[in-house]
Amino acid sequence: MQAIVLVGGFGTRLRPLTRNVPKQMLPVVDRPMIEHVVAHLAGHGITRVVLSLGFHPEAFADAYPDGTCAGIPLHYAVEPEPLDTAGAVRFAAAKAGLGDGDDAFLVLNGDVLTDLDVGDVVAHHRAAGTEGTLALTEVDDPSQYGVVPTDQDGKVLGFVEKPEAATAPTRWINAGTYVLEPTVLARIPENRSVSIEREVFPAMAVEGRLHAVASEAYWIDTGTPEAYIRAQLDLVDGTRGDLAAVHPEARVHPDARIDRSVVMSGAAVGEGACLCGAVVMEGGSVGASATVDHSVVGPGAQVGPGASLRALTIIGEGQNVSDGRCLSGARIPEDA
Ligand code: GDD
Ligand code: MG
Repeated sequence: MQAIVLVGGFGTRLRPLTRNVPKQMLPVVDRPMIEHVVAHLAGHGITRVVLSLGFHPEAFADAYPDGTCAGIPLHYAVEPEPLDTAGAVRFAAAKAGLGDGDDAFLVLNGDVLTDLDVGDVVAHHRAAGTEGTLALTEVDDPSQYGVVPTDQDGKVLGFVEKPEAATAPTRWINAGTYVLEPTVLARIPENRSVSIEREVFPAMAVEGRLHAVASEAYWIDTGTPEAYIRAQLDLVDGTRGDLAAVHPEARVHPDARIDRSVVMSGAAVGEGACLCGAVVMEGGSVGASATVDHSVVGPGAQVGPGASLRALTIIGEGQNVSDGRCLSGARIPEDA
């Protein structure tokens, strides 16, 4: 089976980290996010991946010059302008010849990290004989997602993208993995931006042509600072994996305190510094006695001695935080 992976968004909620870098090229512990996504697909028998690109497409081609990622051949479909999620699918499918035959294909939101059993979603799709099948996951606050009520047989009864929290009919939400028949492509108007969540899926639900499969597998959408940090902590603290939290090429002073944090290659942490729920990206540095609490130090950024970053502060690439400065919930630079 082939997959289209949507990676063309602007990653606005992760700025300034995404000012010049697509969200899916940001590192997640030890590799760019897209490599985690493609490796998961490879593990489920997907043989070819079409990356649906828009914002900084060159970042992907530069990172995978031989055209393979996690052992799978990549194909690139670069939109001339953002076409939104359904427009992007139509465009990428046409570029890669995906709708030419009768074969169903997968579509994924490229910012989701999950252990979802993709084969199980495909099997449900075939058994239901339907036009599209979504994976669902359960969340505490559905208001940030596509909310998907179903009947007992898994038929989708409606699709409400980002409803007011109090009005959400269920806590089961669109997990961003779809199996689609090629006929879905003809439902997407050409040459304009079209949202799969706001136009295509609601219309398919009305016709009873959309099914869903609930999954309890690990799932996270990495698109906010909180989730970008949590996805990485989950990979080092045993929740989802046991990757090394501190890269062997990082320099951490023996008297620094590192509590549930990730320190990437070439980063440095000084004497008496305290990291808790922190991510220090490649070449970032945290000065002596500084504190980084549930915050991110961007690539090559420098946090001065005694400074304190808290409450989802994000320091952009190459930025400096002066000695002793206290930041809470801040983005540096502020205008990124
Ligand atoms: N090629 C392309 N073109 N890709 C796009 C575009 C576009 O115009 N717009 C967004 N994308 C990509 C993003 O890069 C991301 O990988 C994916 O599409 C989803 O966009 P997000 O901006 O991350 O959407 P979201 O997180 O608010 O909501 C979506 O994901 C939720 C689950 O993670 C929706 O699909 C929700 O219904 C869903 O619950
Ligand atoms: Mg997202």
